[in-house]
Parts: sequence; structure tokens; C-alpha cells
Amino acid sequence: MDAAADGPRRYLVRTFGCQMNENDSERISGLLEADGLTPATSEDDADVIVLNTCCIRENADNRLYGTLGHLKSRKDARPDLQIVVGGCLAQKDRDQVRARAPYVDVVLGTHNVHRAAELVAQARAGGPITEILDAAVADDATMFPSALATRSGPGHTAWVTIQIGCDNSCAFCIVPAVRGPEISRPFDALVAEVEALAADGVTEVTLLGQNVNSYGRDLTLAARRAGDDVRVRPLFADLLRATGAVDGIRRVRYTSPHPKDLRPETIAAMAEVPEVCSHLHLPLQSGSDRVLAAMHRGYTAERYLERLAAARAEIDDLAVTTDIIVGFPGETEEDFARTLEVAAEAAYDSAYTFVYSPRPGTEAAEMADQEVPAEVVAERFDRLKVVVERTAVAAHRARVGRVEEVAVEGPSRKDPSVLTGRTAQNKLVHFPSPTPLRAGTYAQVRVTDAAAHHLRGELVDVVAPARHRTRIPVAAV
Ligand code: 5AD
Ligand code: SF4
Repeated sequence: MDAAADGPRRYLVRTFGCQMNENDSERISGLLEADGLTPATSEDDADVIVLNTCCIRENADNRLYGTLGHLKSRKDARPDLQIVVGGCLAQKDRDQVRARAPYVDVVLGTHNVHRAAELVAQARAGGPITEILDAAVADDATMFPSALATRSGPGHTAWVTIQIGCDNSCAFCIVPAVRGPEISRPFDALVAEVEALAADGVTEVTLLGQNVNSYGRDLTLAARRAGDDVRVRPLFADLLRATGAVDGIRRVRYTSPHPKDLRPETIAAMAEVPEVCSHLHLPLQSGSDRVLAAMHRGYTAERYLERLAAARAEIDDLAVTTDIIVGFPGETEEDFARTLEVAAEAAYDSAYTFVYSPRPGTEAAEMADQEVPAEVVAERFDRLKVVVERTAVAAHRARVGRVEEVAVEGPSRKDPSVLTGRTAQNKLVHFPSPTPLRAGTYAQVRVTDAAAHHLRGELVDVVAPARHRTRIPVAAV
């Protein structure tokens, strides 16, 4: 069947991995829609299937080639179907993707997402294309030629990529090798993008970067090299303030800061700007100084806890979340005991806990002789979960009886008779509503019950109805 025969061509984007990839997927969707395609409901009615790959943690290779194998039979049955592979794995392993899956129509890197629609159209006319832009030569003007083209889909929230790449060299992490050096997008372009989003009805933005606190460092250096008179300023804190001040924006979130670079100016902006949510995601990775040093994280557990205490002292009612890796090569029981202690002391509201996975090409992947046995890792992982859940439940119980502002996301997936939304602290709240409330509505909800991963509540009042989203015209790229 040629799905294109009855109406506009349809696309489906499958995202593997992190929020940066989610944002890239949104941009790809926006560009395809600007080119006249409409969203498909499943693989069955899709004419273009985009796989946006990740290589940070999971065994992405197996997943990608497994998915591609299954898509090949679809393509054999329907040669008109176009398959696109983008994201980190495509950037890193371009030749392998081509060699192992020659039927892929477009292989697209992380630095030329803006070319997605054009490449799909070109491949349709002229056959398979691989286009990867070298991270070293990418700049904002080529990567983000039109901020408006990044929009897609409904909703009151939007991601805004403020910085790509990473200048750190954490021993376990493949990001610097794939996404290249840190490049900050220009300040004014970002504020303009948030203004455009707000004009389009978006009320909550999440600023994205691998290391948001060093946002602007490269801009300042480049301006200095050009001889411009630049004042040294805490650009990330400025960005928080400027985006918080945009008319219509009620919430600004960001992820992730690096603990070694968490600056007092950032804490001050969080404390002073009401729109900046009181939620700090501060990746710990390990509580052992020995492991932190082997990871090249640039802080000790004590320093981390000091920074956290400083943030808590200044920011009212701060929720704190983290990332922790279990089973880094050479992690001893003693090292892990420190992680448990630090996690308990940090009293996290929640934590993303990861089993260490060697990424070929990273420093830690060379430490295979120090591998921690899988059963030891699994047992540690479970113990860490217990510690985090204990502090999470305590933090959540402390909220019972309070009235919180909740941004409605829609009916709960598990129980559609109740609504689900998020507080400024990013906590999921389920609550029944006598009247249906549209996604994007802000409501006051009294917390009645607490669990490790969510709260329950009752509706008190509607603060702000959902704003009407219009689709802003997508500028030609
Ligand atoms: N193995 C396990 N977890 C990893 N992360 C990054 N690389 C790895 C890896 N090789 C985790 C870190 C990081 C988060 C985004 O992913 O905790 O903060
Ligand atoms: Fe990876 Fe470390 Fe950079 Fe984060 S700061 S992206 S963990 S290298």
C-alpha cells in the first residue's frame, strides 16, 4: 500500500535517549511539517520513519540495527517508505550505518538537524544520502538557521537548546566525542526564540545544555579574541533572568548544571526570579572521592554537598534531583557505601540511577580489567534505590496539606478519570477535577497524599486557563 496515495505524506519520529534528542526530534518534526508532511499514527501509515538515536548509555547499536532489520521488511513491501537515521549514533558511526543498512534513505548527523526535510526530499528524488556535519565546523548560524522552524506539536511546554557539545571529559561519557566542543547559541537569538514560543502560547520552557552553567564562555572568549569590549558576565544567570522576564512565560526550567561550575549568580537568579522553578538537577555520579577523581568530575563529595547546602539556603523550597552511576570500573563496596551516605545526606527528591555501561572510545572503556560483576552492580543498584526512595517519600509527605500550583498535562495514563500535572518542583500530581481542564491550565491543588514518585491532590482553584496555541509560520530554511 502506498500511504501517500490518500493525502499528504506522513512521518513518524522515534526518539531514543535524552532530552537533547527529544528537542532534535521536535525540530525534525517541525521541519517535516513545514514541508507539508503530517504526523502518522503508527508505522503502518507512515511514509517517512525517522529514528533519532542515542549512544550515551543503552546498547544503542543493538537497538538500532534490530529496529532497522524490522523496518527493512516494511520497506521491501513498500519501497516508497523512507527511513531516516539521525542522532548521536549516526554522527559517530555513519559508515557502519550505511554498510549494515544500505536501504536507509538518509543518514543525518547531530549538527545538521536543520537539513532534515531537505534531505528527505532530495533522497526521494535522487536516492540515499549521508550528510554529517563535522562538530568542529558547526556554528549557530548553520545549525539553527531558523529558530521558528524548531516548533512542532501542541502543548504548553517547549525545550530550548541553549548550548550544544561539552568541553568536559568525564571518563564514562561519549558526549564530547559525539557532540563536539561546547557551542553556546547567541543570547539574543535565544531570548527571541523564547519570545516567539510565548507568543505561540508556550508558558513553560526548559533550557537545555550538557553543562548549562558554562553557557556563554565560548561567546565571551570569541568576542574578546575579536577585540570587542565585552564585560565578563554570568551569562547563564542572565539568560535565566531574561527568559523569566518574557511576557507569558510562567516557568523556566533548565538541565543540567555541572556541580563544579554551579555559580552563586545562578543560585541568586533562581532565588530571585519567581518564574525560575525551584528545582535543581545536580548530577552527583558517585559519592566516593576516589571514583569522582577517576571520573574526572572536578569536585569532591564534600564540595558537592557544600554547593547544595548553599543553594538550599538561598532558594526557598528547593527540590533536588540527580544522576548517579552504579558500577563505575573499580567501584569498591567502600566507594559505594560513600555514594549511599552522600545520597542520604543530599536528601534527593528523586534520582536517575544508571548501571555503568562502557562506551567504546571513552577512557573508562579501557578499564575493562576493573569491571564490577553484574550481580554486584544489580545488588548495589537496588540498595541505592531504597535510600533515594526513603528521602523522596519524606520530602513528598512533607508537602501533604499544602496548596501547590500545578500545570495540567492531561488525563493520567493509568487512570484517565483523574488529571495529571506538574508542580514548579517538577513533581507529578494526580487529582480529580469536577470539570475537564485543558492541558496547559494552571491550577491550585491541595496535596492529600504522597508516594515516592508522585503526589495526589484535590482541585482548589483554577489560576490560569490554558492559552490558545497557534502554529507560528515556519520561516523558510
Ligand atoms: N554509563 C552509565 N551512565 C552514563 N551516563 C552517561 N554516560 C554513562 C555511561 N557510560 C549517565 C550520567 C549522566 C546521564 C545523562 O547519563 O549519569 O549524567
Ligand atoms: Fe558527559 Fe561529563 Fe560533559 Fe556531562 S559534563 S556531557 S557527563 S562529559
